Amino acid sequence: MNFFNEAYRGVPPWDIGRPQPVFAKLAVSEDLGNEIIDVGCGTGEHALLFASSGYQVLGVDSAPLAIERARTKASQRGSKAEFMVADALHLAELRRQFDVAIDSGLFHVFSDRERVAYVESLRAVLRPRGRYYMLCFSDKEPVGWGGPRRVFKREILANFSDGWRVDYVRPAKFESAFDERGGEAWFSKVTRTKHLPRCRSSLIISE
Ligand SMILES: C[S@@+](CC[C@H](N)C(=O)[O-])C[C@H]1O[C@@H](n2cnc3c(N)ncnc32)[C@H](O)[C@@H]1O
Repeated sequence: MNFFNEAYRGVPPWDIGRPQPVFAKLAVSEDLGNEIIDVGCGTGEHALLFASSGYQVLGVDSAPLAIERARTKASQRGSKAEFMVADALHLAELRRQFDVAIDSGLFHVFSDRERVAYVESLRAVLRPRGRYYMLCFSDKEPVGWGGPRRVFKREILANFSDGWRVDYVRPAKFESAFDERGGEAWFSKVTRTKHLPRCRSSLIISE
């Protein structure tokens, strides 16, 4: 996605230079296994946070400039977090599996069709009972507010209705330069089950 790479020539509004509060809390409140993938990691604040908590972390992003900056931060901070350019819609190509996937601000950039591919892609890199933690802007933001697509709770439930268990979808805040009060968001936890999903094309409702 060239739009994102171009955005990293400056400091994009979502790149606040620190982890989102919900992920900072998660890092100290739950046992997340050993291996974590940060999908759409940007310049790496969340991957670096979880690596500093002792997890083995891979951050992936499609924007080469973001990955370059994340690697620089890792080397400056002496972090073992790894970073690579990769497409979130084709994570199977990594040929690796993780206990947890985190996503801060990626799900809400995708179209309906991409979301279906993304959920399948996540499934390919999460171990059975692996967990996906996701922060996205919510429908509580006003229509036409100028930021990324607003996500309804029912959309999250529908995307993860088959082969997954939605543990929670909680109201949260998204810190960004879009709004100094913090944007209205959903913070979700979803667990991969053993059950194999059926065909998901019925979820493609717009475009
Ligand atoms: C809103 S930003 C959030 C970045 C970071 N997680 C954060 O919290 O600062 C969304 C990120 O997803 C990345 N992205 C967009 N589409 C992608 C794709 N198909 N595969 C991997 N990364 C993607 C963008 O380059 C961007 O860094």
